[in-house]
Amino acid sequence: MQKLVINGGIPLDGEMLLHGAKNSALPLLAAALLCRGETVLENCPRLTDVFAACRILTHTGCRCTMKRHTISIQADALTCSEIPEALMQEMRSSIVFLGALLGRTGACQVYYPGGCELGPRPIDLHLEALRRMGAQIVRHEGRLDCTAPKGLHGSIIHLKFPSVGATENVMLAAVLAKGETVLHNAAREPEICDLAAYLRKCGARIRGDGESTIRIEGVSSLMGCVHRIMPDRIAGLTYLSAGAITGGTVKLCGAAGAQMDNVLPVLEQAGCRIDRTKNDIYLHAPRRLRAAVRLRTMPHPGFPTDAQAIIMAVMTLADGVSVFEENIFENRYRHVDGLVQMGAEICVSGRTAVVSGVPALCGAHTAATDLRGGAALVLAGLAAEGTTEVRQIHHIDRGYEEMEQVLSGAGARIRRVLQ
Ligand code: UD1
Repeated sequence: MQKLVINGGIPLDGEMLLHGAKNSALPLLAAALLCRGETVLENCPRLTDVFAACRILTHTGCRCTMKRHTISIQADALTCSEIPEALMQEMRSSIVFLGALLGRTGACQVYYPGGCELGPRPIDLHLEALRRMGAQIVRHEGRLDCTAPKGLHGSIIHLKFPSVGATENVMLAAVLAKGETVLHNAAREPEICDLAAYLRKCGARIRGDGESTIRIEGVSSLMGCVHRIMPDRIAGLTYLSAGAITGGTVKLCGAAGAQMDNVLPVLEQAGCRIDRTKNDIYLHAPRRLRAAVRLRTMPHPGFPTDAQAIIMAVMTLADGVSVFEENIFENRYRHVDGLVQMGAEICVSGRTAVVSGVPALCGAHTAATDLRGGAALVLAGLAAEGTTEVRQIHHIDRGYEEMEQVLSGAGARIRRVLQ
């Protein structure tokens, strides 16, 4: 087991290179399963969740090779349409393989992706949508037996909530279905647009991604292509926040500022100066940040749930009171205990957390409870006086490639050690 050890209190100063987006890579890997020929994904982050997706692809008969940040998938001959429970449970996003497998083979068996640190993760919207497209889905204990005896067909689907995962599953199932699928109240996240861009290059007919209604006209086959995965906007926010919380000056290389329009203003309102070029973002933090009055997590283009813990860490040291309202997940304040242990003043009541900024944090021995919560503890540790330890960093490794190396590049004193 490994942990991160941080000697805090040093303003970051330097460059950090941003990796490709986890939340884009995983549905793209599932989409590769739909294509004949070879798919080459560039800028693919080397993350444990990505490796888990590769194990699923290999299990179904795909050839999958990864060299540095380029991954090649050859899905010509699928040999298996069952994903074993152990593979399904390795990560929550494994559920996006359902739409892809069903679309490609017309029959598959998968398991529930299992519980999650953030609270219940129902998949009713995914199943309801696929049923409307002609899938018969029968549940045997934790297993889902899915068939489409007459093949999947296009349908008009209205999601009760703009779920990212359900939108991806519908897109993956619809690209090879017969006829047109119209998806209303679709998720509008940039990762949805990245998936659509890849599928279009493979020959799919998709319109409206990035808007609330997505239209997909099924085609008879798709051909693999070369695609560069978009930058990880949440990892990008994390690294800029490391600059902000330490009162530093940083350059984030390989970022797409336009995809971060719903989060960068929060750092600007806190007093940071942010300049963007096409591929880089510069941040210069003031000596003391100002509190961000009220932040409510919402579906895109609202303030993202994935940014909540990260900005909360930053606000622990800001001047004034910040109020957070978490509207997406029930159990997404588990990082609060670790922050409080470091001297933060945070009061949680239901879905609301009130953060009163303190002048300083102190190092502590903490443990990550989930991916973004773990990142929040690292941020607090970078700013805290003394030494902070963060254990349970397998959560962090799901979504940040060698976080300690990236931060060290900007002068942070952080190292990974065996526990
Ligand atoms: C969510 C985030 C996404 C983020 C990802 C990783 C939103 C809208 N989505 O996507 O931005 O990148 O986590 O942390 O912020 N739900 C149902 N039934 C379903 C599916 C979802 O009730 O079948 C509910 C969930 O319980 C949850 C909400 O919808 O309350 C969001 O779920 P969803 O968007 O599907 O989650 P992810 O796809 O994981």
